[in-house]
Amino acid sequence: MTDRYGVIGHPIAHSKSPVIHGLFATQTDQDISYEAFDIPPAELSTTINKLIQDGIKGLNVTVPLKKEVAELVDHLSDRAQLAGAVNTIDVKNGRISGDNTDGVGLVRDLRDNLGIDLMDSRLLILGAGGATRGIVPSLLEAGATSIRIANRTLEKARGLADQYRSLGAVTPCRFDELERESFDLIINATSAGLHGESPPFPTSIITPDVVCYDLSYAMRDTPFTAWAREHGARQVHQGWGMLVEQAAESFFIWRGIRPETGPVLKQLP
Ligand code: ATR
Repeated sequence: MTDRYGVIGHPIAHSKSPVIHGLFATQTDQDISYEAFDIPPAELSTTINKLIQDGIKGLNVTVPLKKEVAELVDHLSDRAQLAGAVNTIDVKNGRISGDNTDGVGLVRDLRDNLGIDLMDSRLLILGAGGATRGIVPSLLEAGATSIRIANRTLEKARGLADQYRSLGAVTPCRFDELERESFDLIINATSAGLHGESPPFPTSIITPDVVCYDLSYAMRDTPFTAWAREHGARQVHQGWGMLVEQAAESFFIWRGIRPETGPVLKQLP
């Protein structure tokens, strides 16, 4: 019998997850279906319960539901607990488990697909929302020496730095405090690009060898990748690889098989 999976979010029409999981299923010969469900936050709990009653085996969770879903599951993995957010629900024997594959997805893209050595690296993350929370523990675990979290609202960056200080050297600041600092890797985790904006990051952070990575992805440059290129960045990447890698990790949780991500990544823009 075909096992049912899907992705929930609001809105969801833009999601590439059905295409990605469809390609994984064909590649690994798994008999699954994968649908997209648009769920307004107010209807989250009832709709998830209904989907599970109807036999759904697993769900990916995207914006803006990741935090709320963490409150609804029976069990949270360590990484979902650290992130305070769930992007993967797994239903086995009536038990609903929540996991978070975003951090590991980013690290796999950086290290395995892009060949970026995270060991002993100095990182800057722009933004202090849910996306940042999902990736900090994995980046520290991958060997980053220090992570600076810069945010428009300093209090939010402080809160995250406090939460993760026991895991490594995580410090908060405002964008204008970055003027005299340099990094090996800059990750844009603000949602500003979604609104077509590029916040006032100091151009001095774009040094000749810095790698710039935007967690967002688009058909062309995102506002951040355009800004980074314009100011001289030579290595600029979007989050397409992270998208595919986090999906592969979800697929592995559900099916116990790890699909090859390279061929799937090639089929996306
Ligand atoms: P989430 O819902 O993921 O927790 P969010 O509130 O959507 O997060 O915000 C994501 C991040 O993008 C935040 O760091 C936010 O900055 P603030 O904490 O100051 O709100 C950042 N962000 C969004 N739009 C921005 C903009 N125009 N300029 C700078 N930062 C922006």
